[in-house]
Amino acid sequence: MTQIVKYLKDYAAPNHLVPKVDLLFDVQNEYTDVIITLHIEPQNNEKTLILQGDAKLLMIQLNGERLPETAYSLVGEILTLPNMPTVPFTLTIQTRVFPEINKSFNGLYASDGNLYTQCEPEGFRKITFHPDRPDVMGVFTTEIRADKQKFPVLLSNGNKIRSGSLPDGRHFAVWHDPFKKPSYLFALVAGQLVATSDVFVTKSNRQVAIEFYTRPEDADKVAFAVESLKNAMKWDEERFGLEYDLDVYMVVAVGDFNMGAMENKGLNIFNTKYVLANSQTATDSDFEGVESVIGHEYFHNWTGNRVTCRDWFQLSLKEGLTVFRDQEFSGNRASRAVRRIENVKLLRTHQFAEDASPMAHPVRPASYVEMNNFYTMTVYEKGAEVVRMYHTFLGEDGFQRGMKLYFERHDGQAVTCDDFRHAMADANGVDFSQFALWYSQAGTPTLNVSGSLQNGEYILDVKQILPNTPDMPASEKKPMMMPLAIAFFDENGKKISFRQPEHPAVSNTEQTETVLTVNQSEQSFKFLMNANTVTPSLLRGFSAPVYLEFDYTNKELALLLAHDDDAFSRWEAGQTLFRRAIAANEDALKNGEMLPEHTELMDALRNVLNNQDIDPALKAMLLQVPAEAELWGERDNLNPVLISMAREALLEQIAHGLHSELLATALNAREAENADKRGKEIVFYEYNPKDAGLRSLQYACFGLIHRFDEIATIEQVFEYYDEMARKNMTHEWGVLSAINHNHDPKRDELLARFAAKFDSQALVMDKYFMLIASSRRADTLAQVQAALNHPRFALDNPNKVRALIGTFARNVPHFHAADGSGYAFVAQHIKKIDEFNPQVAAGLARAFNLLQRIEPQRQALMRAELEQIVALPNLSKDVREIVEKILA
Ligand code: TRP
Ligand code: ZN
Repeated sequence: MTQIVKYLKDYAAPNHLVPKVDLLFDVQNEYTDVIITLHIEPQNNEKTLILQGDAKLLMIQLNGERLPETAYSLVGEILTLPNMPTVPFTLTIQTRVFPEINKSFNGLYASDGNLYTQCEPEGFRKITFHPDRPDVMGVFTTEIRADKQKFPVLLSNGNKIRSGSLPDGRHFAVWHDPFKKPSYLFALVAGQLVATSDVFVTKSNRQVAIEFYTRPEDADKVAFAVESLKNAMKWDEERFGLEYDLDVYMVVAVGDFNMGAMENKGLNIFNTKYVLANSQTATDSDFEGVESVIGHEYFHNWTGNRVTCRDWFQLSLKEGLTVFRDQEFSGNRASRAVRRIENVKLLRTHQFAEDASPMAHPVRPASYVEMNNFYTMTVYEKGAEVVRMYHTFLGEDGFQRGMKLYFERHDGQAVTCDDFRHAMADANGVDFSQFALWYSQAGTPTLNVSGSLQNGEYILDVKQILPNTPDMPASEKKPMMMPLAIAFFDENGKKISFRQPEHPAVSNTEQTETVLTVNQSEQSFKFLMNANTVTPSLLRGFSAPVYLEFDYTNKELALLLAHDDDAFSRWEAGQTLFRRAIAANEDALKNGEMLPEHTELMDALRNVLNNQDIDPALKAMLLQVPAEAELWGERDNLNPVLISMAREALLEQIAHGLHSELLATALNAREAENADKRGKEIVFYEYNPKDAGLRSLQYACFGLIHRFDEIATIEQVFEYYDEMARKNMTHEWGVLSAINHNHDPKRDELLARFAAKFDSQALVMDKYFMLIASSRRADTLAQVQAALNHPRFALDNPNKVRALIGTFARNVPHFHAADGSGYAFVAQHIKKIDEFNPQVAAGLARAFNLLQRIEPQRQALMRAELEQIVALPNLSKDVREIVEKILA
C-alpha cells in the first residue's frame, strides 16, 4: 500500500486566497447542512482552483450560479475546479455532515447530544470545502440555526452580532470574528450548556467577558480554571506586554476529545480533564495540569493565532513557543526550580525516547503522511527547549526584544520557524545561523565532557556527539550550537570563583557561573581559579536538551546533591546515583549475584531526608527514581522487564534502608500540612502550591514506606482510608496508588469502593481505570480485561482508552510480558479503535516504538502483532505511518 508523503521542500504559496468566509450551519436531527461562501482572490492568473473536502457534497455555485457536475471533479478529498475566473469571485458550496456517527472527534461531532468541532490541523475539510491550509486566512462570519430546546446555546468564534427566533421552535445566532484566521482555528459549539461568567479588565482598561461552558452538573468544578485564565491574562500583559484582543473569551469543556485542548480564536474547546477540578475530584497535579493548559491555550492567542504557521511543518513555531510560555507561567506560580525539574523529567522520559525511536524527527519535520501524528513530544517539548535556548543565550531583555520584533514584523501573518529565528537574531545583532540546525537535525546530542586542573588552570574539554536517526546518518550531521551553563564547587561544596582568560569581554572578571557557547564537535574552555579540588556543575538548569557524560565519582555526585545551588544539577546528581545503582542491580540480577548495597546513595538520600532546608516539593523530586523509559536511553538489545526488576529492587532497598527517615519525613510533612488547619471549624484541603508540595513529599515517602511491610500497611490503610479520602482527592489517590500493587483482596475492595463512590464522575472513573491498568499485580491483564466491560468504560471515549489501555501499554512488566499477552492485548485494541478514531489508535501504536531496541524474543512477538496490523486492508494512514516506521 503506498502512502502519500508530504515534504517541506515542496512548499508552494497558495494560488487562491480566501480573505472572507461566510458559513451557515443548519442543524437537523440526523445531520447538519453546511453552506459556505468563499470569497476567493486568485493569484498569478491561476484558473484551476483546488479545494480540500471530506464531506458529502450537495451543490456548488459560482458567483451565485449553480455549477453543473461537469464543471468540477472530486477525487478522494480533492475537489478540482479547472475553469475558474482569474478575477475575484465567490464560490458557494453545500455539504451534509453526520455528527452523531462521527467518533473520530475531528470535524463536527456530537458528544452527549451537543455539537462540537475540532479543526486543527485538517478537520475543517471534514465539514466543508476550503483550501484548508494555514497560510490561507480569512475573516469568518458564521450563522448557526438549530432547535431551541435541544440546542439553547449556539457559539462560534468572535462576537455574537445577531440572534433571534425562527419558525418551528428553532432559533439562530450569527457570530463574526474580525481577526483573519486560518480554517484550523474555526470552532462551533451548540447544545445544552451552562455558562460560568467573569470579567477581566485589560491593562488598557477594556472589559473582557469570560464565559466557561459546561454541563450543568459540572459547573461546580470550573472556578479554578476561571481563576487560572485571569492569572494567565494578567501574566501575559506583565511578562510579554500582550493584551487580549476580543470582547469575549469563551472556554467549552467536552468529555470526548482527542487531545488536551484547542486554541480556537475566542472559543477554546477543552478536554474536561483540563478544565474541571475541585478538591474532591482532582489531585494537586490535576490542578496544575488545568492551570498550565488554560495558560497554554490562552497564550496561543498571540503565539499561534495572531501569528500563525505558514504550513504544518512549522508547527513548533506556535507549539514550542507556547509551551515555553506556559512553562514560564507555571514556573512563576510556585517553586520555579521544581517545575523546571518536572519539565525536564517529562522531556527525558518521553521525548528522548521518541528521539531514539523510529519516529525520531526534527523539531521541524521534513515530511509527514498524517499531520496528526506530528503533535509530538519533539515538536512541543523539545521545541520549547529550543525556544528556551534563545532565552538562555539572549537573557530576558534580549529575548523580549526578539519577541517584540517578531510581532512587529509578523502580526496577522502565517510564518516559519526561520522567521522567528531571524527576529531573535536581528533584534539582538546575534548570528543564529548555526542554531537553525536544531530545526533540521533529529536525535538527542550527547556532550561528552572531561576536566583537568593543573596549577590553577582548569581545562574543560567538550565533545559533541550526534546520533544516527532514521532520516539522517550521524556522518551527515553538523555540530550544533547550544548553551552550556556551568559552575565549579570545591570540596566543601562552596562555589569557586574563576576567570576566563580566553573570553575577551570577561577575561578580568571574577565569576562563579557562566554560560559557554558550544558550537564545534570538539572544544576546550580554559578557567583560572584558586582551588585544589574541583567538581564541575554542568548543564545547569538543563541548559540544552542533550545527554551529558562526565566521569563523576559517586563522592562528587553526593557533593553536588548536597550543595549545588542549581536545583536541576542537584537533582541530576541524585538521578545519576540512582541510575548507577539500578545498573549495578541489573548486573547482579542477570548474574544471579547478591544486590550491591549502594552505601553512598543511601547516605546521600539520608542527608536529603534529614535536611530541613530543602523545600518539600524539591525533596519529593529528589526521592524520585528515574522512570523506566528514562533508563532505556539509547541502549540496544534491552530487556525492559529486567531493568524494571532492577529498579524495583532499588526501591525495596531504599524502603528498607531508610524506613525510619522516610516515616519521619512523611509524618513531618503531614503535620506541616495540618498545622494551619487545626482548630478551624471547616477544614479545607484545597489546592495551593505550598500544601501540594507537602502532600507530594508525603506520598513520595509513603509509596516507599508501604513496601517495608505490605501486610501491615494494607491493614492500616484500611483503617484510615476514609479519613484521608475526606480530605481531598490528592490524599485519596496517594493512598490508593501506594497500595495499588498489594496482592491482598483488601486492595480490590478499596478500589471497588472508590469506583462505586465516583460512579457519576467521569474524570474520577478515569483514575479508577488508571489504577487497574498500572498495577504490578500478577492479575493485572485479567483485571484490565474485566474493566473493558465496566459500565463506565467506553472504547469510543479517548480519555477512557488512554486511562485503561494507554496506561497498560506503559506498565512495563505487563505490556512486555514474556508470553506476548500484553502486546496482543494492545494490538487488538489498536485495530478496533482504528475503525472509528485513527488519531487515538495511532497514539496507542507508539507503545511499540521500542521494537528495534528490544531483545530478540520480545522483538519477534512485537513484530508479529504489527505485521498483522499493517496487513489490514482498511487501516488508517495514521496507524500505518507509525507502524510502518517501527517495522522498517
Ligand atoms: N493546538 C492544540 C494545542 O496545542 C492541540 C491540538 C492539535 C489538538 N490537534 C488537535 C487538540 C486535535 C485536539 C484535537 O493546544
Ligand atoms: Zn498548543
